[in-house]
Amino acid sequence: MIPYGKQNITKEDIQAVAKALKSDFLTQGPTILEFEIAFSTYIGCKYSVAVSNGTAALHLSTLALGVQEGDKVITTPITFAASANCIRYCGGEVVFADIDSDTYLLDINKVETLLKASPKGTYKGIVPVDFAGRAVNLEAFRKLADEYGLWILEDSCHSPGGFFIDSKGIKQNCGNGNYANLAIFSFHPVKHIATGEGGMITTNDENIYKKLLELRTHGITRDVASFKNSVEFAVGQQVEKEANYPGWYMEMQHLGYNYRFTDFQAALGISQLSRANVGIERRKEIARKYDESFSNHAFIKGQSTFIEGHAYHLYVIEVDDRVGLYNYLRENKIFAQIHYIPCHLMPYYRELGSKVGDYPVAEEYYKNCISLPMYPTLSEEEQTYVINTIINYYQNAN
Ligand SMILES: Cc1ncc(COP(=O)(O)O)c(C=O)c1O
Repeated sequence: MIPYGKQNITKEDIQAVAKALKSDFLTQGPTILEFEIAFSTYIGCKYSVAVSNGTAALHLSTLALGVQEGDKVITTPITFAASANCIRYCGGEVVFADIDSDTYLLDINKVETLLKASPKGTYKGIVPVDFAGRAVNLEAFRKLADEYGLWILEDSCHSPGGFFIDSKGIKQNCGNGNYANLAIFSFHPVKHIATGEGGMITTNDENIYKKLLELRTHGITRDVASFKNSVEFAVGQQVEKEANYPGWYMEMQHLGYNYRFTDFQAALGISQLSRANVGIERRKEIARKYDESFSNHAFIKGQSTFIEGHAYHLYVIEVDDRVGLYNYLRENKIFAQIHYIPCHLMPYYRELGSKVGDYPVAEEYYKNCISLPMYPTLSEEEQTYVINTIINYYQNAN
């Protein structure tokens, strides 16, 4: 069986996890901070906060950004539902904008049209998604966001290791926080870095970072300077004027969650991260081979364009008779996947008012798209077999 994505667990990964399991901490230990620091270095941001999964990362981000009941936030319909759902978790209103048919990313022109059509202040933020691993040009989005006073939350689940080149010629890594206020990642097994479940939030904003740390653990703080209750209350008896807060004392100052990560997952994350660049290079090789193999075939209506900063979480092609190809591949033990069913047409979002025809580019893309196997351990032979099976379907089998 050849899946569309797959984790790569090595002997070193297993040793790292075993070492963490034998240590004093299963959770809330030092390995989490070690992973966060390593991740910040890899991405090129100031702060990273590890959490239990990518969805938790999105939820905490929208909370930290202060999304409230009725706040309108813009995102793409071609994404995993969590990119939109995080706005709903805080009672906000999801406003989709269509995708660009070439890049498959949120179309900045459609976003601008939306913003122009309403008084300033109507929208609070944008959640662009580096779909399939292709970096959104956040410099352009930042300019627009600044004009309208919006925050940007980059969903980088598909793009650790991806980048775009800004107008000054500087390489901007996905999630580095130079243009977005926050970014989030997932460490689900099909992603570049796998920890089972897992997620990360990155930012350069110290206040947001501190807020995220509290929200991750029930809204609890141990920062003496911010305590609100008196020392006397904390101690539980009358105290001298200069008395300190006792060692056990902490305060729950906000409504927070338990979205913590564990130390053995962090150990796996550190080990996986050390091979991340090798993984991206292999993904690029696979993409180049697909590109070349399909470039002269009329059955291909569109395909992931090779650009340098693409992190190739997915390799998407658009074809006619997509369902026929999907079933034929399955008969031949190749488990391709569809990314994504347009989010606005999920029954939940239809109930909130979305309907067929709202985002025609996304809807047309959905009719044709299929994601082919893409993961570093996909062998040359397996990829050749995938390519030949696809060509065979269109030239001979149907
Ligand atoms: C674009 C995108 N956003 C968010 C998520 C949510 O991540 P997780 O599955 O770790 O909660 C995913 C994961 O599938 C994703 O692909």
